[in-house]
Amino acid sequence: MCPPAHFMVTYSINPWMDPAKPVDLPLAMTQWEDLRDRYRALGHTVELLEPLPGLPDMVYAANGATVVDGRVLLARFAHPEREGEAAAHHDWFRSAGYASVHEPAHINEGEGDFAVTSSYVLAGRGFRSSPLSHGEAQEFFGRPVIGLDLVDPRYYHLDTALSVLDDATDDVMYYPGAFSPGSRAVLARLFPDALRATERDAAFLGLNAVSDGRHVLLPQAAVGLFEPLRDRGYEPIGMDLGELLKGGGSVKCCTQELRS
Ligand code: ARG
Repeated sequence: MCPPAHFMVTYSINPWMDPAKPVDLPLAMTQWEDLRDRYRALGHTVELLEPLPGLPDMVYAANGATVVDGRVLLARFAHPEREGEAAAHHDWFRSAGYASVHEPAHINEGEGDFAVTSSYVLAGRGFRSSPLSHGEAQEFFGRPVIGLDLVDPRYYHLDTALSVLDDATDDVMYYPGAFSPGSRAVLARLFPDALRATERDAAFLGLNAVSDGRHVLLPQAAVGLFEPLRDRGYEPIGMDLGELLKGGGSVKCCTQELRS
């Protein structure tokens, strides 16, 4: 995770971002700290990335890389405003001693567009990550990569529209309206029992969730997801990341998972 020390909305690279809307920085920091503390209270280790001035979106740490089996596929950002973040993630992985770190040839925005289940790497395309990054990820991870077409600009990253609930059983939740008809059919075929979110819950970025297989941390406003999650045996934990929502991200965007 990366603290939102320099968080601001000064440019707009997704429909959620309105530079005219003020951001309450101390509140953003408190909300982010709540998320960090919640992970720690649940027994998870949180590594921190040093925030850099001039990179206001760095708080969305999920976009910096994708780690599977301890192998690191770095990001290459689509927008020049975020390009500088890639090197910071690279430095972090190098000093943390990761041996297998791949600098990508093609644009990919890390876990913004890659979601990992036990069987697949699901990969979004259409707004940010290049379709060519999917083959690159498949080659690097040696796992089948399933390309999914995102069609609604509000759900510009895969992690705004789909969340892996249990990576051992391939349980996922997603908002069908974010995907092309063909990709919806692919999802229905691969995950016939998936939890399908309503438009309302998706619009609070309810799919931008992080699950450890038992606890599901998600935006608290996505109230319609809580009961279905409980019915499936999960413990939903609502988080208020309202200030970070102004940049177009929530729980998952602020969290990069280090899969060993
Ligand atoms: N303002 C950021 C951007 O548009 C938000 C990134 C959200 N991150 C995510 N994993 N979806 O790039």
